[in-house]
Amino acid sequence: MALALRLLLAFLAIGSCIAADHIDLWPMPKSVSHGTQRLYVSNNATMSMAGSKYSDGKAILKDAFQRMLDLMKLNHNADGANPSSSLLTGVNIVVLSTQDELGFEVDESYNLTVPTIGEPLHAQIEAQTVFGALHALQTFSQLCHFEFTSRLIGLNSAPWMISDAPRFPYRGLLIDTSRHYLPLAIIKGVIDAMTYSKLNVLHWHIVDEQSFPIEIPSYPNLWNGSYSYSERYTMSDAIDIVRYAEKRGVNVLAEIDVPGHARSWGVGYPSLWPSDSCREPLDVSNNFTFKVIDGILSDFSKVFKFKFVHLGGDEVNTSCWTATPHIKEWLNNNHMNVSDAYRYFVLRAQKIAISHGYEVINWEETFNNFGDKLDRKTVVHNWLGGDVAPKVVAAGLRCIVSNQDKWYLDHLDATWEGFYLNEPLKGINNTEQQRLVIGGEVCMWGEQIDASDIEQTIWPRAAAAAERLWSPLEQIAEDTRSATSRLSRFRCLLNQRGVAAAPLAGDGRTAPYEPGPCVRQ
Ligand SMILES: *[C@@H]1O[C@H](CO)[C@@H](O)[C@H](O)[C@H]1NC(C)=O
Ligand SMILES: *[C@@H]1O[C@H](CO)[C@@H](O)[C@H](O)[C@H]1NC(C)=O
Ligand SMILES: *[C@@H]1O[C@H](CO)[C@@H](O)[C@H](O)[C@H]1NC(C)=O
Ligand SMILES: *[C@@H]1O[C@H](CO)[C@@H](O)[C@H](O)[C@H]1NC(C)=O
Ligand SMILES: *[C@@H]1O[C@H](CO)[C@@H](O)[C@H](O)[C@H]1NC(C)=O
Ligand SMILES: *[C@@H]1O[C@H](CO)[C@@H](O)[C@H](O)[C@H]1NC(C)=O
Ligand SMILES: *[C@@H]1O[C@H](CO)[C@@H](O)[C@H](O)[C@H]1NC(C)=O
Repeated sequence: MALALRLLLAFLAIGSCIAADHIDLWPMPKSVSHGTQRLYVSNNATMSMAGSKYSDGKAILKDAFQRMLDLMKLNHNADGANPSSSLLTGVNIVVLSTQDELGFEVDESYNLTVPTIGEPLHAQIEAQTVFGALHALQTFSQLCHFEFTSRLIGLNSAPWMISDAPRFPYRGLLIDTSRHYLPLAIIKGVIDAMTYSKLNVLHWHIVDEQSFPIEIPSYPNLWNGSYSYSERYTMSDAIDIVRYAEKRGVNVLAEIDVPGHARSWGVGYPSLWPSDSCREPLDVSNNFTFKVIDGILSDFSKVFKFKFVHLGGDEVNTSCWTATPHIKEWLNNNHMNVSDAYRYFVLRAQKIAISHGYEVINWEETFNNFGDKLDRKTVVHNWLGGDVAPKVVAAGLRCIVSNQDKWYLDHLDATWEGFYLNEPLKGINNTEQQRLVIGGEVCMWGEQIDASDIEQTIWPRAAAAAERLWSPLEQIAEDTRSATSRLSRFRCLLNQRGVAAAPLAGDGRTAPYEPGPCVRQ
């Protein structure tokens, strides 16, 4: 009898179950069914790729499998002897596409089965792309736990049949390395933890008014605006971060926020300031400003290969433009008021980014002020209010949702429940328009966090949003009661994996309230 048929019969006998309460998976897959049998993962488990068209030349899967084995042991010594039955010898991965270029809208779907019959017994992953297979390995790792009796990795409730795909293609997390420098090891840790909840875009808000930490070969004095000589990233560091992230299925979105939020640029090139006493926004009247933007984006395009670049455009206070005589004169000569000049700046910066092959993301103020003038491929990044996405998609543009009242991680009064319940498609009924919401992003602004507490400020709240962005709406509870115990178990898993995720109880980032087991904090 064919294996598939035997599996099917086994399932019919056991009956399938989607009682989310008893399934320790985060985010919840599209469809899950399971049985009641315990299996063990062999202490010399191996990965095979029988039937795969993809050959893993870059060792993306080989390395991911090794990381997953380490994760599943949770630093225990899995030194028990393999049992003679109920033993999973490893995972076979079938990837159909030979392409392994990560990018926007890459197919992330996968099927994962863990059978209880077959000789030898192994889990089976099927995915269109290697990036779907990475998600499958993450899911598999969550099915497993260290089993103290056998001293092996155990896997309960087999057989499992999981079929999964994300609801939104863009599932982001912002980090801000201008307000506080984040060491490379911290950034890599953030990327690792993102993959545990299947987030797939690291939005790197690299520079802002306070500091300019990154090397720009075209304009080598720009990083004179770093906080200190050591609080810097070389371009080679940036390449390393991008490679590290891509190998884990995470895209890196680079941002320069212009023309506001750019005071630090003038430390190395003072003519970018309107004047020495009025230093922001960037001097709109000076062509050198746009030459520098061109140089930065030219350098970026060699490193940041994601199809989007973020050009900011928020919170532009133009009073320095009217207060500076040479800019005032330029405005008069060009028959522009400051609103016109703001638009002129944003649109000219967009053209430069497009000339380097990028599509542009801008913060929502650009849309709110001159949405009809933006390049038609612009993605508008919402942050101010909760009712922006419907307007953006009605105007035919794409949108990323990050409304600050719900999805700003630096708001310590924003609870995980608020993160969980924030629906990106709220108020958008038309399916064509729904498709224009490419996803959402939680934002870890850096004014009041640094390397010492970034992890517990991000987690577990970012994970709550991650399920909202990944799982089908049918799997997402309308209240948070049924998600609470599952998220608290995921939070404990993060702790066990070495991620300093904060307790669920209380607001955004609290200390444990009293002695007790992890899941009750
Ligand atoms: C795993 O270990 C068992 C003995 O414990 C051995 O029989 C088997 O060949 C090993 N498999 C691999 C792939 O090394
Ligand atoms: C997963 O299984 C479903 C149903 O059997 C099938 O339609 C789909 O193509 C499979 N997906 C992948 C990525 O193999
Ligand atoms: C920037 O730093 C370089 C190297 O330290 C130095 O030579 C240069 O004078 C600095 N420029 C400014 C404007 O501070
Ligand atoms: C600045 O650039 C604009 C657009 O390319 C051009 O029209 C203008 O003549 C330039 N101004 C100066 C002073 O070079
Ligand atoms: C705009 O900038 C000016 C000059 O720096 C400052 O005095 C003013 O308070 C700012 N306005 C706002 C709304 O922040
Ligand atoms: C700026 O000028 C435009 C016309 O070019 C006008 O529509 C707009 O109201 C003006 N804005 C301000 C703030 O004066
Ligand atoms: C969308 O549908 C909801 C519920 O069906 C309804 O309350 C709302 O008015 C609709 N909104 C629009 C913009 O049509």
